[in-house]
Amino acid sequence: MRPGSALSLLALGSVAQAAISLEDSSLSPREIENLERSIEARSLVDDIWNDIKNAATCTACQGILVLLKGVAIFGDDAFVSIATGLCKLAKVEDDDVCEGTVALEAPIIADAIRNMDLGSDTSKLFCGSFLGLCPEPSVPQWKIPFPSSKPSTGRPAPSGKTPLKVVQYSDIHIDPLYVSGSTTNCTKPVCCRPYTAADEPGHSTSPAGPNGDHKCDTPVGLEISMYQAIKNIVPDAALTLFTGDIVDHAIWNTSKPYNQKQISDAYTYMSQYLGLVYGTAGNHEADPANAFPPQSISNSSQWVYDALSAQWTRWVGASAEAQIENIGAYSTKYPNGNLRIISLNTNFYYRMNFWLYQEDIEQDPDGQIKWLVSELDAAEKAGERVYIIGHMPIGESDAFHAGSNYIDQVVNRYSSTIAAMFFGHTHVDHFEVSYSDYSKQDASHAVMASYICPSLTPTSGMPSFRVYDVDPVTFAVLDTTTYIADMTNANFQTTGPVWTKLYSAKEVYGSKLNPPVTDPSAELTPAFWHNVTALFESNSAMFNQYISLKSRGWNVASCTGDCQKQEICQLRAGRSESNCVVPSPGLHISKRSDERHGHSHHRAHDHQECGMSAGMKTIGSLAMRKDLLNELQVRVNELRAKA
Ligand SMILES: *[C@@H]1O[C@H](CO)[C@@H](O)[C@H](O)[C@H]1NC(C)=O
Ligand SMILES: *[C@@H]1O[C@H](CO)[C@@H](O)[C@H](O)[C@H]1NC(C)=O
Ligand SMILES: *[C@@H]1O[C@H](CO)[C@@H](O)[C@H](O)[C@H]1NC(C)=O
Ligand SMILES: *[C@@H]1O[C@H](CO)[C@@H](O)[C@H](O)[C@H]1NC(C)=O
Repeated sequence: MRPGSALSLLALGSVAQAAISLEDSSLSPREIENLERSIEARSLVDDIWNDIKNAATCTACQGILVLLKGVAIFGDDAFVSIATGLCKLAKVEDDDVCEGTVALEAPIIADAIRNMDLGSDTSKLFCGSFLGLCPEPSVPQWKIPFPSSKPSTGRPAPSGKTPLKVVQYSDIHIDPLYVSGSTTNCTKPVCCRPYTAADEPGHSTSPAGPNGDHKCDTPVGLEISMYQAIKNIVPDAALTLFTGDIVDHAIWNTSKPYNQKQISDAYTYMSQYLGLVYGTAGNHEADPANAFPPQSISNSSQWVYDALSAQWTRWVGASAEAQIENIGAYSTKYPNGNLRIISLNTNFYYRMNFWLYQEDIEQDPDGQIKWLVSELDAAEKAGERVYIIGHMPIGESDAFHAGSNYIDQVVNRYSSTIAAMFFGHTHVDHFEVSYSDYSKQDASHAVMASYICPSLTPTSGMPSFRVYDVDPVTFAVLDTTTYIADMTNANFQTTGPVWTKLYSAKEVYGSKLNPPVTDPSAELTPAFWHNVTALFESNSAMFNQYISLKSRGWNVASCTGDCQKQEICQLRAGRSESNCVVPSPGLHISKRSDERHGHSHHRAHDHQECGMSAGMKTIGSLAMRKDLLNELQVRVNELRAKA
């Protein structure tokens, strides 16, 4: 909180004036005048509501910000208390989930709101992410300087040598408090925990099996079953990529020791069952979830980096330790081949990392992008190929346009050196193509493929992992095969999960291309993946098959018309500004992601796969319910009267 801001509010006696006086704002004098007039006339809520109805949504949002500032300047406690009340009133979550989550998240949100100038780019970013009321501001220009120019040599030709196997799994979301026999029918973000006596084993009409349920996170038995399956199916795996998210979705009840133990337990199991594992920082590893402040703001996530470093160094070596402890990222040489693994901390570009809504937005949080450039340049000079791994895919609507744009510039520059990129986070089976020119999205402009691995946690489909065939010389991906444990298999809850091959990309998609791509030594190039998107456009049976594979055959919803267009646009978005996602009032990002992923859950409380934020949902509901705005106005007036 800036010194004196609360005082200035009290002195001026007007929330709008105080908010505006904090800093020179980019609202026009007329807009400020209108805002003040509406406060004096006590018609602010009416004005906001009319603006929303009249689609003047960005203006409406500045009005909502005036109210939120009116609370935030009274301190974190006031903000937490009022936000918790609104969360309950809006029935965003159960009362205890509101209480726990808002207590964890709201101080970070309050800090951002206090320091936010009305009309600034940060305020618009906030309004877009939290309320769906402003388009995302255009990307601040940053032409990334590169130490060398792009070589004219393209991607190396396949060697034709016997492929290696690379394993990937993601979003394991282990629930150590999972209780077999407890209910799968609950109103919380995850079930299969005995929250009440009625949820206890023996009382429920829908008891959880021992090995997992679509309404619940992963029981340890299912986790171990996957590691064993990987060991059995791919005993010769060269290396394994784990793209993050260990901690369960009970985000209202995380704590530093709880998450630390989760991180340590998961990597200990991996080290017992698997060979070389390269991990990356998931948004759920933090406490509160998603909270990864850049070092310039706070060192409060230092413990996550320390916890990850303590686990990862057994695989990446001590030389990567300092980097992990600094920013949760690393670059390391694969010891048995000409490959470098660069693990990015994508939380620095994540919309739900509330630390990022600073009035002065850092162009390159903790210098990660500059560091990435130097690592890639050194790799290129050394003739190494590179895998970039990260948690959140860079083209998703969860990624800020700015960070995504900058990384896309780097990917374009080093597209001959980077063999492929690997992510998780969305829980579903898909991919993204990056282009050298997004206005010319064709095979000849496709420069990179991102492989997005479906989750182990069964909340959006059957538990899954992937195996890539890769060229042992160029490390190009030659095929990707998804394995699942079919939860409808009668043995799933009795003798245990049965892991089987679901499909291979070359078999299902390559064989349908013209010309077909079926040669085992042919690379699945960026152009290949572009051509697959073109196939989805022209062949609805293939597109439907893709939609079904996305959730591994579970809860498959039809996706035609705009849904199909949106889906293909997303597949062609290596950067998020190109993914065609347009915010609409109150529709927060995760809800949209879920809808886009083509399977709604029809639950009392929509389940968010990637990240969940009661704080974000609460603020988002202000754009949809006038009664909540009125309640907020009443609370602001109470605070001011008391002060
Ligand atoms: C889930 O619980 C609710 C409320 O207790 C009940 O009305 C509903 O019938 C239950 N659904 C199932 C599938 O058991
Ligand atoms: C919250 O977490 C603690 C462990 O940190 C656990 O003992 C408790 O049962 C959890 N509460 C719920 C409601 O899951
Ligand atoms: C974090 O910063 C605070 C004060 O700036 C310092 O006292 C503390 O030791 C730091 N913690 C870590 C783990 O570096
Ligand atoms: C992609 O399609 C184009 C034309 O449609 C074709 O020329 C090219 O060979 C295809 N590339 C791959 C890798 O399938």
